[in-house]
Amino acid sequence: MTDLSAIVSEIAAEMAAAPDRGTPASYIPPLASVDPARFGIAVIEADGTAHVAGDGDMPFSIQSISKVFSLTLALGAVGDQLWTRVGREPSGSAFNSIVQLETEHGIPRNPFINAGAIVTSDILLGRNAPREAIGEMLRFVRALAGDEAIFIDETVARAEQDTGYRNMALANYMRAFGNLHHPAEHVLGVYFHHCALAMSCRQLALAGRYLMAGGINPETGRSIVSAQRARRINALMLTCGHYDGSGEFAFRVGLPGKSGVGGGILAVAPGIASIAVWSPGLNERGNSQLGTLALERLVARTGWSIFEPRG
Ligand code: DON
Repeated sequence: MTDLSAIVSEIAAEMAAAPDRGTPASYIPPLASVDPARFGIAVIEADGTAHVAGDGDMPFSIQSISKVFSLTLALGAVGDQLWTRVGREPSGSAFNSIVQLETEHGIPRNPFINAGAIVTSDILLGRNAPREAIGEMLRFVRALAGDEAIFIDETVARAEQDTGYRNMALANYMRAFGNLHHPAEHVLGVYFHHCALAMSCRQLALAGRYLMAGGINPETGRSIVSAQRARRINALMLTCGHYDGSGEFAFRVGLPGKSGVGGGILAVAPGIASIAVWSPGLNERGNSQLGTLALERLVARTGWSIFEPRG
């Protein structure tokens, strides 16, 4: 079968019936209460054609997928200086791990683990008060997706704030090393709010188009980042986007991808498509169980792996 719409519908039907769905995140009630039967998928091709199936238009908590957008904004603010404060290596540890920070002097391994994203939030505060930094993130993703309906779920943000002891520890620990320049409460306010962005698969795939298209929003023709920066963000998504499951994701799917504990994954087939999948049940590494399986099947049926010979 080569018809992309048929492939996307077929995968949505297979995922709706899949028996082994993983377990939704349970650390905050608004995530624990999401129905594990949900599955959504959206594929936006380079020419703008959209294929959306299942619950692809239902908003969900994008959580750590937002770290791609906060990194993009932080790079826009301070450029490659960002890399003096955040590394570019896979951590091999859980997303919220603190262990490497001690021996590595408060410099997080990469911008996608929590510690790294907390530093990028600190950078976003460099030119803004917390409220403005949060507003800047919201405006950015709305502009990327071309959809003003995208919102921040305040219930999720508040629940994160009420239970975020480990993130508070990460922030204060990095402040002790001099790698956080603003008060931990302010930085985490920004971080928790961007994690609480609610978006559908369609909105997320639309927002990710610049990573498929060499840094350009194909709809407006506007440059979001340089082509080199888009390549580099994709490289980080491939090597670090699924934490200690990044090797497994590259092995099974072979696309740059970023997961979130809400069960979403944004994946990029450079030059071909921007893809978002969502199913709330997670595997043992905290990545969407069916989201990963759906992407594995999509790539197997389309030949979109970046490791596929081109030509
Ligand atoms: O800070 C946290 O732990 C959550 N708000 C986000 C974590 C997340 O999405 C990790 N991804 N798998």
